[in-house]
Amino acid sequence: MQIDVFTLFPSWFDWFRGQRHVVNAMALGSALETVDYRAHTPLRAGQVDDTPFGGGAGMVLRVDVVEAALRAGYGEDPVGLRKHRRVIALTPGGRLLDDALATELAAEEELTLLCGRYEGFDERIVEHFCSDQVSIGRYVLAGGELAAMVVCDAVLRKLPGALGHEDSAHEESFSAALEGAPEYPHYTRPAEWRGWPVPEVLLSGHHARIREWRRERSRERAERRGGESLS
Ligand code: ADE
Repeated sequence: MQIDVFTLFPSWFDWFRGQRHVVNAMALGSALETVDYRAHTPLRAGQVDDTPFGGGAGMVLRVDVVEAALRAGYGEDPVGLRKHRRVIALTPGGRLLDDALATELAAEEELTLLCGRYEGFDERIVEHFCSDQVSIGRYVLAGGELAAMVVCDAVLRKLPGALGHEDSAHEESFSAALEGAPEYPHYTRPAEWRGWPVPEVLLSGHHARIREWRRERSRERAERRGGESLS
């Protein structure tokens, strides 16, 4: 999978690229590239944003700047680009990222993530250049970079081999394998600590009983959290 992130802060992604599952995904053929809007701006003095028409606080990322960066990255009109590539604007009001969306995006060969800053994007960017808008939650971040990293994290860890253990991304919270419910609790050694024992069944070696116990705990958690289960 090839992910390109358009941002004003490409160096932020250096840390992210060093994380184990990202390193694994890269070693298995994925790529995470950044494109700096400022490096491609057609405006003087590295300008990328401007004041909003109609007034109001803050600055807005300019449509001509984003077009120039996308053209530099792909050598084509971004209006056509979104017809064959998912170009995703990170916006607080977009489609909420959940496990189903992460799975959907992980099936793509290529993704482009556009990070906004300040007050966000000139609406024409979203309307004409993007195929999707994605939000990581109903709160406003100072920019889309952290949101882009969250999307990349959730997507890359789903790629085969990224976690180093094939089962770990399969039966986890909100996955189809758990019918969309939160994951069951985990325990490890010591089997007892300060009088807090690990549930007996997990020490029994009885795989069918363990599976059933886990399903029950997972369902219980879904019910407690207001019916998050898909079924
Ligand atoms: N940009 C600013 N806030 C955001 C959010 N909550 N999700 C995605 N992108 C954002």
